[in-house]
Amino acid sequence: MKKVYGVIGDPIEHSLSPVMHNAAFEALGLDAIYLAFRVPLQNVGNAIRGAESLGFGGLNVTVPLKEAAMRFVRPDELSKRIGAINTINFEAPEGEPNAFNTDGIAAVRVLKENVGSLTKKNVLMLGAGGAAKAIAFYLQNEGARLVILNRTAKRAKELMERLLSSGGAGEVAWGGLEELPTRIKEADILINATSVGMYPNVEETLVTADLMHKDLVVFDVVYNPVETRLLREAKKAGVRHRIDGVKMLVYQGAEAFKIWTGISPPIDVMERAVRERLGGGMEK
Ligand code: ATR
Repeated sequence: MKKVYGVIGDPIEHSLSPVMHNAAFEALGLDAIYLAFRVPLQNVGNAIRGAESLGFGGLNVTVPLKEAAMRFVRPDELSKRIGAINTINFEAPEGEPNAFNTDGIAAVRVLKENVGSLTKKNVLMLGAGGAAKAIAFYLQNEGARLVILNRTAKRAKELMERLLSSGGAGEVAWGGLEELPTRIKEADILINATSVGMYPNVEETLVTADLMHKDLVVFDVVYNPVETRLLREAKKAGVRHRIDGVKMLVYQGAEAFKIWTGISPPIDVMERAVRERLGGGMEK
């Protein structure tokens, strides 16, 4: 029988996970389908239990459910420390973890491909939500010097405390967005891990060109649109290393795919499917 997988979130209609995973299923000749489901926050538990009861193979969990979903699954040690999951495997053996977070590993993989080692790199990360938590944890593990700024400064502080108590190797500082103009001067890498700039609010950005220096690496986790206002501002500022969110989306998806099927999926097929749907890549 056809195996069903899916992504739950709210909003969800612009998710590219279906096109990405279905392309991989097709390329591998697997009898499986991946669908998107809009699930409001208050229904997250029912949705997870329902999908399991219906015999789904697994789920991805996205905004704003990554943290709330924790209560309804058996998270692995890493995602427990992060405090958010994005992948559930309903076929995990009884008593073993069935929920994971593949966002952080994906972000670090993308950054390392672009800049090499992250050890002692000054990373300025905007955001303290689900995606930010996962990325921060992995960056700290890589020995990066991390500054977390968030609109709600208290959440940035909570994230820093969580990181410090988990015993990673790097340094961490926190603050509100008002610190951005000073903090960005000493940053090697800027990461937007907020949802600012995401469709339909495509003209929004937390950072404009006048604040950026040319040697900064600018990475936006938002992938819809591919070239966000933040990345356009970076181009205007003469920033060479501009990284869009598609690669991270593909890498986190590929990790989830492997967890569900045991197969390493064709990354190129998944990335092509996503970029085609988004209407081409971004100018390098
Ligand atoms: P995700 O899983 O994508 O991280 P989330 O947990 O809802 O989603 O977190 C969204 C992040 O984007 C948060 O850091 C949020 O800031 P707050 O903690 O202050 O809410 C940030 N964010 C969303 N809209 C924003 C805006 N208009 N300006 C600044 N930050 C914003």
